Amino acid sequence: PKPSADPPATTVKSYACQRRTPLKHHNTFLTDALEILAENAEFNENEGRSVAFRRSASVLKALPHVVRGMDDLKNLPCLGEHSVRVIKEILEDGTSSEVESTRQSEQYQAMKALTGVFGVGVKSADRWFREGLRRPLDLIHTGQKLNLAQQAGVQYYNDLNRPVTKREAVAISHIVEKAVNAVLSGAIITLMGGFRRGKEVGHDVDFLITHLEEGAEEGLMPKVLNWLEEQGLLLYQKTTRNSYLESKDGPARPPHNLDRFERCFSIFKLEKGKEGSGTSLNTSYDSGTTEGITGTTEQPGPSWRAVRVDLVVSPFSQFAFATLGWTGSKLFERELRRWAGQEKGMSLSSHALYDSKQQRYLRANSEEEIFAHLGLEYIPPSERNA
Ligand code: CTP
Ligand code: MN
Ligand code: MN
Ligand code: MN
Repeated sequence: PKPSADPPATTVKSYACQRRTPLKHHNTFLTDALEILAENAEFNENEGRSVAFRRSASVLKALPHVVRGMDDLKNLPCLGEHSVRVIKEILEDGTSSEVESTRQSEQYQAMKALTGVFGVGVKSADRWFREGLRRPLDLIHTGQKLNLAQQAGVQYYNDLNRPVTKREAVAISHIVEKAVNAVLSGAIITLMGGFRRGKEVGHDVDFLITHLEEGAEEGLMPKVLNWLEEQGLLLYQKTTRNSYLESKDGPARPPHNLDRFERCFSIFKLEKGKEGSGTSLNTSYDSGTTEGITGTTEQPGPSWRAVRVDLVVSPFSQFAFATLGWTGSKLFERELRRWAGQEKGMSLSSHALYDSKQQRYLRANSEEEIFAHLGLEYIPPSERNA
């Protein structure tokens, strides 16, 4: 037995929303492995197992040092027996046999490829996998019935699986600003999601739009989309109406008042050479002379690429909640809601915070105020990479 003069082990709080998780950390060799198992659990629709692996990985992301041995795991929260076993194997052998066999498995690879198509969820991918399909092109070859999102997903598959750079995100920001300003003056447009957390690349670009004058934002989404459409900048869009209606009896009511659009999952057509903030005196105009497949089957060529863009419109009274809710990471959000419910008897959404004990909504004008209501230390976006 060791004397009690050991240096104190790193203490890590158990909810991800209580911790600072930077973008770059010291244990990717472990967290990548655990996240493969989490992903595979999702493919098997085992959410509990998936979240368990994600929580384990997230704890390791918050450590200020490399995990070198099992002693480093002492006193760490959230590490289940299974995760510990995987970590131990990697520390001892360099790899985990379970992780490697998962990575190599036909099911994992097919599910990864098929769910990598925009518009394809685990359920469809799993059905197709059982029918013998393996690759996105199999969807075409076997003549599967695809919805509009999936058709766009297949059509722009290569572009949508290529990371969106920060430069491209900035270029998209300029387009969104122009579109919004064209239909409503004074609107505020904020970059959300991974880019707000400091990521250099993303799978999409997320925006939250609001207006200081409550109600001025109503009806904004369809106008913005029309403008973008007229400019030929939209390759695909699907809007979902605002389904939130605050109720005196509690949170999260199903929709009644469906007259307001709220969010839009879209695919933008981004001209190449226009990204970046510098001068756009580009002479790289090799567009127009590429193969003219024309019209609806237009394919990305040398002059433009397809980029996934999410747009959300929020009334100003909900802006702080929407900002917190759309900044992510997904695990951070999940942990915030779990903390609110389990530790505080509150219910948090991207619209509001409801206190069940006081039976009232708690107002907030900033993310800082929401953290304070929740009894949490404020964590800035760059440290929400749980
Ligand atoms: N989000 C959401 N509802 C959805 C999709 C996303 O509330 N249907 C929220 C997520 O909780 C997250 C934010 O939107 O907080 C951004 O999600 P997403 O774009 O999927 O992930 P990012 O963190 O931005 O990572 P990436 O770089 O891969 O886009
Ligand atoms: Mn287990
Ligand atoms: Mn995103
Ligand atoms: Mn998104």
